Amino acid sequence: MTDALLELRSITKRFPGVTALQSVSLAVNPGEVVALIGENGAGKSTLMKILGGVHQADEGSIHIAGRQVTIRSVADAIKLGIGFIHQELNVLDNLDVAANCFLGREPLWGWPLRLINRPRIYSESETYLRRLGLNVSPRTPLRELSLAQQQMVEIAKALSQNARLIIMDEPSSCLTVTETDRLLETIRDLRQQGVSIIYISHRLNEVQQCADRVVVLRDGQNAGSLARGEISHQSMIKMMVGRDLKDMYVHGSGAKRPDYFQVQGLRTRAHPRHEISFSLACGEILGFAGLVGAGRSEMAQAIFGVDAPLAGTIALDGKPLTIRCANDAIRAGIYLVPEDRRRAGLVTEMTVRENVTLPGLSRWAAFGLIRRREENEVAVRQVESLRVKTPSVEARVLNLSGGNQQKVVLAKWLALTPRVLVFDEPTRGIDVGAKAEIYRLMRDLAERGVAIIMISSEMEEVIGVSDRIAVMHEGAITGVLDRTEFSEERIMSLAVGKAPVA
Ligand SMILES: Nc1ncnc2c1ncn2[C@@H]1O[C@H](COP(=O)(O)OP(=O)(O)OP(=O)(O)O)[C@@H](O)[C@H]1O
Ligand SMILES: [Mg+2]
Repeated sequence: MTDALLELRSITKRFPGVTALQSVSLAVNPGEVVALIGENGAGKSTLMKILGGVHQADEGSIHIAGRQVTIRSVADAIKLGIGFIHQELNVLDNLDVAANCFLGREPLWGWPLRLINRPRIYSESETYLRRLGLNVSPRTPLRELSLAQQQMVEIAKALSQNARLIIMDEPSSCLTVTETDRLLETIRDLRQQGVSIIYISHRLNEVQQCADRVVVLRDGQNAGSLARGEISHQSMIKMMVGRDLKDMYVHGSGAKRPDYFQVQGLRTRAHPRHEISFSLACGEILGFAGLVGAGRSEMAQAIFGVDAPLAGTIALDGKPLTIRCANDAIRAGIYLVPEDRRRAGLVTEMTVRENVTLPGLSRWAAFGLIRRREENEVAVRQVESLRVKTPSVEARVLNLSGGNQQKVVLAKWLALTPRVLVFDEPTRGIDVGAKAEIYRLMRDLAERGVAIIMISSEMEEVIGVSDRIAVMHEGAITGVLDRTEFSEERIMSLAVGKAPVA
């Protein structure tokens, strides 16, 4: 391939105890959208970090337009026309759109430019915003934009740096359905304009919609690639996990003891004028659908006592509960698996073992000592059953891939014996194989009598996993659907606050 814009040749990268990449090659042509997929820990982010100068390859070479290059820093990558859109956005929300666009260029052009030539920055930013179809003024402060719009600003920034290749590592994981559609549209426009894209995602629907070619990594090696015409869910999954995945979703044998868990008139700080009431049976999985900002996470946090509710009652097994803090909830057997794993779910500096056994420490503690062996066994068992990819339970969580960190969060709560479990976006960033695994675990727990609330923005997941679906809009439940009534259209219309279509 002589006309490739980017070529990675036989890249090998080792970390202590792990070979993250073993002789991996990847080529991207001008104006081509290449999706890079693979299970959690397959090496996708590591490969992209080598392109971004965050890591140096132990072996192999990088070629841009046929010329071998060395990338030691993000600045090097930018000079070579490579832009990055990270999952955690780099934007500064107290600055305006234009200032953010040019942030990365300041080191290249020096500070005076920003001081002297602000009008030029505004007019240039405007050009890029228009090119992306983003209808906001460059003077808008970033904090007034939605997450999706902020991401567009990141793309505008990459374009203003003359990026010929834009790398997007799980760009859609925080976006709503409509925002994701807009992103996919933008990707198509960029391709038209000759910009190449490397798109990393676990959402196979999106990959199918936007990719010209799919490159699959498995265990740090090239597992193969699929041309446009060969891309299907089946073929991608098979190449990623090395086998066919059947029965992604398992249905339950029916809920017992209706009204086992009851929430009445709950009002949260985010939506003080709306009340939430619902009830849940033993062994039932109740899905919560809705657009981002509909108040689902706030509801979860109120139930768990993180953010005390303004009003409302919660009862479990007929007994009213007083939940003022998370410890009250934990004592009652109610657990929350939070949405933001790094902020609320994990201590990344600690080991996998410590994280898994953290909430239950008192149970393993005898005479003030933590029973190491028991603790170790629990951790090893959880790591195996969720197939967490880690050299050992003594590895620090910090060094695990994104999806594997999420599995550790789950392992931590599953190691306890919950009565009510609230999952907030349980499979964000998790690969298909592990998703199937997590759905099976959720179903097992339900069958053992746990009442489960699952908040999810992935339509396929809510429909596949739930026994019933409650849809929220602006802090209120706009409808509850039974399995026979499930459809994307009904959920969407309830999510935007309309009456469900017949
Ligand atoms: N700084 C590091 N130190 C040690 N090991 C690391 C480091 N960074 C990554 N790894 C390991 O390298 C492997 C590849 O990780 P990487 O983050 O590239 O996976 P990924 O394909 O992006 O997965 P995900 O889909 O979960 O994001 C994993 O086993 C991970 O634990
Ligand atoms: Mg990753």
